Amino acid sequence: MNDKCHLELTHVNIDFPTDTGPFRALEDVSLKIDKGEFVTLIGHSGCGKSTVLNIVAGLHRATAGGVILNGREVAEPGPERAVVFQNHSLLPWLTAYENVELGVKQVFKGKKSRAEMRDWIEHNLELVHMGHARDKRPDEISGGMKQRVGIARALAMQPEVLLMDEPFGALDALTRAHLQDSLMEIHATLGNTVIMITHDVDEAVLLSDRIVMMTNGPAATIGEVLHIQLERPRERLALADDVRYNHYRSGVLKFLYERQKRPEENKKTPADRGTTHADSENTPDEVEPENVALRVVGH
Ligand SMILES: Nc1ncnc2c1ncn2[C@@H]1O[C@H](COP(=O)(O)OP(=O)(O)OP(=O)(O)O)[C@@H](O)[C@H]1O
Ligand SMILES: [Mg+2]
Repeated sequence: MNDKCHLELTHVNIDFPTDTGPFRALEDVSLKIDKGEFVTLIGHSGCGKSTVLNIVAGLHRATAGGVILNGREVAEPGPERAVVFQNHSLLPWLTAYENVELGVKQVFKGKKSRAEMRDWIEHNLELVHMGHARDKRPDEISGGMKQRVGIARALAMQPEVLLMDEPFGALDALTRAHLQDSLMEIHATLGNTVIMITHDVDEAVLLSDRIVMMTNGPAATIGEVLHIQLERPRERLALADDVRYNHYRSGVLKFLYERQKRPEENKKTPADRGTTHADSENTPDEVEPENVALRVVGH
């Protein structure tokens, strides 16, 4: 790595206390990330992806090893590391607008005027197509809409490091493709560092500079790292026919379904596994064929 490296996980272990003794979820996870790099974490369900993200967010403390951001150890959450959680985490008594406002005030109080803050909140809600529902509370909107508000809140904080835990998992294919494009644009404009968890191999290849593939737990670690050397801006339509794109894609699929095959995968036929998703919650059977195509070529 070069001297731009600003985020580093060093020999991270984590043991969770359980009734039957400590459970080692992660072992010896080391990773250096450059400023502005877009890294995705991929691996089977339960391997420890969210745990890695939560340690970088400062929400979990490593049992051994640690995380350094800009030369300082991460010991607690901070506004320079905004998180989009796997289970959208909006405050239920606040509207969509107010939920975004919460993050914006945390970062921009005293720096933006009230009118500027209002415009900025509205801009970010529009970005995720939630302007029309700005005054609705979380119990009045769908899961995918809640997720979009969570994304707007994180983006509105203009974080140096954006941590996203399956941010598009609950979205329909069209919204997902739209938000992937928005995220690529935002990343190109702001140059923030992104660590994103996904189960979607196409999404990982489309968005990433590097795909970090995790082994199955317990004591999960980094199995392989794939550098995605596709020039930006990336066009999903053009990439669908790009041999390099398909080469990267099959590299990730081979890692997941050959080298880190789970016991239940043995029972499946290759045709069953002809999917872009790594997780049992998104099995091939549940994915409409046209949605799979959309992940590559849709807008
Ligand atoms: N607080 C906790 N206490 C005990 N075990 C935990 C705790 N948090 C996570 N684990 C365990 O650590 C392992 C990794 O969990 P984690 O949520 O990081 O997986 P994941 O890769 O994000 O899975 P998914 O893809 O399903 O979201 C799992 O076996 C999980 O049961
Ligand atoms: Mg998770």
